[in-house]
Amino acid sequence: MEKARQPPRTSRHLSVTEPSPWVRRFAALVPKGGTVLDVACGGGRHARHFLGLGYAVVAVDRDVGPVADLAAEPKAEVVRADLEGGDPWPFAGRTFAGVVVANYLHRPLFPLLLAAVETGGVLIYETFARGNERFARPRNPDHLLRGGELVDLVRGRLQVIAYEHGIVQRGPIPGVIQRICAVNDLDAGTRGDGEPEPHRVDPA
Ligand SMILES: C[S@@+](CC[C@H](N)C(=O)[O-])C[C@H]1O[C@@H](n2cnc3c(N)ncnc32)[C@H](O)[C@@H]1O
Repeated sequence: MEKARQPPRTSRHLSVTEPSPWVRRFAALVPKGGTVLDVACGGGRHARHFLGLGYAVVAVDRDVGPVADLAAEPKAEVVRADLEGGDPWPFAGRTFAGVVVANYLHRPLFPLLLAAVETGGVLIYETFARGNERFARPRNPDHLLRGGELVDLVRGRLQVIAYEHGIVQRGPIPGVIQRICAVNDLDAGTRGDGEPEPHRVDPA
C-alpha cells in the first residue's frame, strides 16, 4: 500500500488530517482502478487516503490552496469550484467509482451527487445531523441532516450497505453524525428475486 500524502496545515478543519473511520471502512467497496471524487475536499484527507490506496482522485473545493500539492500527483486532479451556485457543476457528464462527501451539506447538490456515482460505484457520505446543535457547530439546520435524510436520498437509486445516525464520540470529529454507504447496483442483480447482490459490511 502506498503512503497517504499529508496536506499543509493552516486552519481549523484542516488540522484534521486523519481520514474518517467511516470512509476508511468502506473504501474497499469502491471498484479498483476507478476514480474517486472528494466533494468539498478541504485538505483532501479523503482524496489522499484513496490516492494512497492506488485510486485516481478528483478533489474539488472552492478553496484549493490546501490541496495545491496534489496537482503534482499524476493520479490526482484538483478542481476549484463554488459548488453553491457560483459556478456550474464541474462534472457534468462524468461519473466516478466513488463519491465521497464528508462534513459538507448543500442539499441542491444531491441529484448531481447521485448522478455522479457510476454503475457499480459507491457513495460514501457523512456529515453532521440534527442534535449536533446541542454540542457544537454546525448548529444551522441548513447544515444538519434530518433523520433518515441520506436514506431518503438514495432510496430506489442505490443499495444501502450501511447507515448510522447518532452520537459519535470516537474519531477525529465527534458530534451527532449521519452517514451512509450505498452502491449503485440496484439494477445489476442476477438473483431472480429482484434483490441486488449483497456486499460486505466490513470490507476493510
Ligand atoms: C468542514 S470542511 C470539510 C472538508 C473535508 N470534506 C473533510 O472532511 O476534511 C468544508 C469544506 O467545504 C468547502 N466549501 C464550503 N462552501 C463551498 C462551496 N460553496 N463550494 C465548494 N466548496 C465549499 C470549504 O472550503 C471546506 O473545505
